[in-house]
Amino acid sequence: MKALVYHGAGKKSWEEKPKPVIIEPTDAIVKILKTTICGTDLHIMKGDVPTVTDGRIIGHEGVGIIDSTGSAVTNFKVGDHVLISCITSCGKCEYCKKSMYSHCTTGGWILGNVIDGTQAEFVRIPYADNSLYPIPAGADEEALVMLSDILPTGFECGVLNGQVKPGDTIAIVGAGPIGLATLLTAQFYSPSEIIMVDQDDNRLDVAKTFGATHVINSAKENTVEKIMKQTNGKGVDVAIEAVGVPATFELCTDIIGAGGHVANIGVHGKSVTLHLETLWSRNITITTRLVDTVSTPMLLKNVQSHKLDPNKLITHHFRLDQIEEAYNTFGNAAKEKALKVILTNE
Ligand SMILES: NC(=O)c1ccc[n+]([C@@H]2O[C@H](COP(=O)([O-])OP(=O)(O)OC[C@H]3O[C@@H](n4cnc5c(N)ncnc54)[C@H](O)[C@@H]3O)[C@@H](O)[C@H]2O)c1
Ligand SMILES: [Zn+2]
Ligand SMILES: [Zn+2]
Repeated sequence: MKALVYHGAGKKSWEEKPKPVIIEPTDAIVKILKTTICGTDLHIMKGDVPTVTDGRIIGHEGVGIIDSTGSAVTNFKVGDHVLISCITSCGKCEYCKKSMYSHCTTGGWILGNVIDGTQAEFVRIPYADNSLYPIPAGADEEALVMLSDILPTGFECGVLNGQVKPGDTIAIVGAGPIGLATLLTAQFYSPSEIIMVDQDDNRLDVAKTFGATHVINSAKENTVEKIMKQTNGKGVDVAIEAVGVPATFELCTDIIGAGGHVANIGVHGKSVTLHLETLWSRNITITTRLVDTVSTPMLLKNVQSHKLDPNKLITHHFRLDQIEEAYNTFGNAAKEKALKVILTNE
């Protein structure tokens, strides 16, 4: 089969690899129908994720068809259409029992990281019964690719951890696919105001069409001043960090109102300054989370009922064998006006 293989920082190739085989009785082999590229894959390509080693097939999102199953798989049979979760979970360990699948002792984020991933014609999925979701007949499978990672991430790490409530004023810092997924799912709870902050005017324009009530280009405007004016000097009820750099985390702690929640989503590579000298008395909560994908079945229902339209996040289409071109487009997102790209295995 063909697959996208990482060969060290800056090096990748679309090349021939052996078709995966069942190793454990709980495995399934899935033929990929559609996959995509994540911001995290760009980090991997830069060499930022040391657990990914030379020869690894990357990718942790997608939908496909069951090609074969191990003897212990009971939820799926050959030919079933499935949604692949970016998080692999055994369903039995202490963390899985607490619905903290991201910390499964033999799973978590392993796909396209420490085991081969989904940017390939076939992928081996461990603990298939727990790590795959059945796709309802007639579902829009392309839209469901957005449920492998970005929608549960925005919802769980941003909206749930931020405890967004009806009437809240919320700020989302970062209008990439994750920030926009947060914007879409925050609206389940009817916040009264959603302020979107980014440095890319195109993404801010997209955010307006997705339901942002105010947008701020932080490269051109004084964000703290503008948000304080907007909130009568009080600050926001919930500030969600969806970038992953010190400046944006500190911005969230600068704009948070008394009693508010700062929910971090971004993957950080550098330490940030925590201004406890001003924050200690403000009754705020700061949360962090690696996506657990426990909300996937709920999100699937809301896509089916058209309460949530993930298609809005898809801007570009390619054949799977055009994946290197797709990386160039996604890697130049601002210039290409790209959000998510869909790769189809024809
Ligand atoms: N916690 C988790 O489980 C989890 C899961 C998936 C992704 N992530 C992380 O979420 C973050 C967002 O992911 P994404 O795919 O949307 O990334 P992205 O790079 O596509 O989007 C980031 C956005 O931030 C904007 N930005 C950059 N610097 C900024 C600044 N100083 N001020 C304001 N805006 C700025 C960019 O213009 C861009 O639109 C990343 O750090 C990613 O690694 C976390
Ligand atoms: Zn991802
Ligand atoms: Zn587990």
